[in-house]
Amino acid sequence: MTLDLDFVRAQFPAFAEPSLQGQAFFENAGGSYTCGAVIDRLTRFYTQRKVQPYADYEASRLGGAEMDEARIRMAAILGVEDDELSFGPSTTQNTYVLAQAFAQMMQPGEAIIVTNQDHEANTGPWRRLADRGIDVREWKVDPGTGHLDPAALEELLDDTVRLVCFPHCSNVVGEINPVTEITALAHAAGAFVCVDGVSYAPHGFADVGALGPDIYLFSAYKTYGPHQGLMVIRRALGELLPNQGHYFNAGSLYKRFTPAGPDHAQIAACAGMADYVDALFAHHGGDAKATAAERGHMVHDLMRAREVTALARVMDALKGRNDLRIIGPTDAETRAPTIALDLARDPVAVAAQLADHGIMAGGGDFYATRALQAMGVDAERGVLRLSFTHYTNDAEVDQLLNALDAVL
Ligand SMILES: Cc1ncc(COP(=O)(O)O)c(C=O)c1O
Repeated sequence: MTLDLDFVRAQFPAFAEPSLQGQAFFENAGGSYTCGAVIDRLTRFYTQRKVQPYADYEASRLGGAEMDEARIRMAAILGVEDDELSFGPSTTQNTYVLAQAFAQMMQPGEAIIVTNQDHEANTGPWRRLADRGIDVREWKVDPGTGHLDPAALEELLDDTVRLVCFPHCSNVVGEINPVTEITALAHAAGAFVCVDGVSYAPHGFADVGALGPDIYLFSAYKTYGPHQGLMVIRRALGELLPNQGHYFNAGSLYKRFTPAGPDHAQIAACAGMADYVDALFAHHGGDAKATAAERGHMVHDLMRAREVTALARVMDALKGRNDLRIIGPTDAETRAPTIALDLARDPVAVAAQLADHGIMAGGGDFYATRALQAMGVDAERGVLRLSFTHYTNDAEVDQLLNALDAVL
């Protein structure tokens, strides 16, 4: 079964938007288009339910119910319990809150392992704990390939390590890291695991329960939703970490790591992401009796299969060029369609030239300066990044390849 791209694209108002016609979107890793179900829910919340939620009057009751629905349905797709999922303003802010909680729980001399492959969001907040006496160890990428070798992690692990942080997939290297294998290594050493899933989740929601990490973070504005950060915190860890919310909310797992009042409308609109998964599942003949995690799984595989086909074409075209260096692996099966290119030129200027050919793409460091520096890329200059998702069609890929031929 292949993904029905006409059906997929009909779910996204951006593809029918007159002002966007003729432009092909290749900066999805920065933030995806939003699906219609999310936009409809957001509009409905703001027009019909924009009152304090969880009271007994109708608008309030419905607003609260929609917020709960978003959490319950997304948790089910992610393969975790309802209260193991919570929402916060962004992944970076969520990581800061979690780092605060770990700082309160850990003793000076205990260790955290971070990588130099991550976006700054899942490394900077943890590194700052060195100021409080925490031993911060860096799991380094291979400078040539950007690969994170689990064998190198094993050398850093000992019984003082409380947490290992790494990305499911880096936003510049693109390689999909073996989360289950890495988690097993960390758990065997007695450490918890925090995975930044931001760059992976747009390519299909993971069954986090089956993958195994204790924390899994991603950002809904990159997964067809509103500007929220989603965090899975498995119960054993969430109940162990000190509460960061109001003291009287400590008994609710999903409130323990969101100190601020949440964005009601955006949380409610996150149910639209579950609507989108379910619509794709039903359209592609999914079994009506499937569980949410099974629906997520099938949709994930459909998305990935489409992306791998398109990515293989892009990679073949890029591999044939001698005027650029592809960051990360070139095999489409092993990576996400988030392709950073080190050019011998200013990538921001190249992105501007691509825009003249109707290509929306970006240049810069994408807040992954440590990864770029580790791979010998001038982080000041940065890379050109071309990123797409399952909804990108062959005509857009053609447009990209033709534009690259014209500009590079
Ligand atoms: C891999 C990765 N992690 C984390 C983030 C930060 O997410 P947020 O903007 O929700 O803080 C980004 C944003 O670009 C990202 O690409």
